[in-house]
Amino acid sequence: MNITIVGPGAIGSLWASYLHDAGHKISLWSRHKDDTLTIQRDSYPALSLANNDTQALKSADVILVTLKAPLVSSVLHQIKPHIDVDAIIILMHNGMGTAESVMTLMPENPLVLATTTHGAYRPSATQVLHTGQGQTLLGAVNDKALQCSFLAEVFHHALSDVAWHANIRQALWNKLAVNCAINPLTAIHQVRNGELARSEFRAQLDAIIDEVCHVMEAEEIAVDKAKLTVLIDQVIHSTSNNFSSMEQDIAHQRSSEIDFITGYLLQCASNHGIDVPTNQALYKAIKQIEQSW
Ligand SMILES: NC(=O)c1ccc[n+]([C@@H]2O[C@H](COP(=O)([O-])OP(=O)(O)OC[C@H]3O[C@@H](n4cnc5c(N)ncnc54)[C@H](OP(=O)(O)O)[C@@H]3O)[C@@H](O)[C@H]2O)c1
Repeated sequence: MNITIVGPGAIGSLWASYLHDAGHKISLWSRHKDDTLTIQRDSYPALSLANNDTQALKSADVILVTLKAPLVSSVLHQIKPHIDVDAIIILMHNGMGTAESVMTLMPENPLVLATTTHGAYRPSATQVLHTGQGQTLLGAVNDKALQCSFLAEVFHHALSDVAWHANIRQALWNKLAVNCAINPLTAIHQVRNGELARSEFRAQLDAIIDEVCHVMEAEEIAVDKAKLTVLIDQVIHSTSNNFSSMEQDIAHQRSSEIDFITGYLLQCASNHGIDVPTNQALYKAIKQIEQSW
């Protein structure tokens, strides 16, 4: 397939490399002006891939968007004139809330959402390290994407495990719940995920989870508070040495994805008239840090 990766950072470069090795024709769309970009995954030979080639973008069967959530709408708005109406758009990022604006912007295109637990790290502009094996879920957002379940096999062949999820909102909400619990707290306190297992964080974690459950119920997303608590504790434990992406963004004074994680939760809570004071306070604290720079 002809696949263009928009936003070839850590996770985009990882997929570019694996999809290329699986035999697909890969081009990149970055904010750099070079005609080609180099990607070297782990210790494999470096690849040279076309960059910002409007012809390649026009002929793309699939456009895999691996930008951070806050950039998705503006970048797709810029490149929309070069995108075929039949091209399948896949959004792969943390957080929620971009699909609504992309559907308004590109109502004709099949729209797929993806979530992945693979780990990727870019030590330099040309290198990407595959730091952790994971699972990727894909699922349809609009009716046109219902016929795109074949993509799970295409992506699985390149970098397993990949599955098609009949209710991708459920999977994304579960991930959002984990992110709401771990990301703001680790970013505010500048600690590794494992530090949240300390007893001083228990009451706050319970309050976050309680509020998230109320909002999920109002959104008609199946949720069990006890199971969600166990899941979040498991993630804290299994990723105890990791820094969350929000911790890293705040540590490097980059704007975080808070608007698409806790911010999305607050928006949904407000739509249903639900009070979420603990999450509201965490959102405010992250915004205050970002505004202090
Ligand atoms: N990395 C992981 O292990 C991982 C795992 C699961 C999920 N995720 C999620 O995946 C998303 C991407 O994460 P990431 O770690 O890959 O971030 P990243 O390395 O910052 O990648 C984002 C890329 O978008 C590029 N970009 C910025 N503005 C652009 C523009 N106007 N046009 C085209 N490209 C532009 C950036 O360019 P520059 O390189 O020039 O800044 C960067 O290469 C996030 O939502 C993250 O939470 C990441």
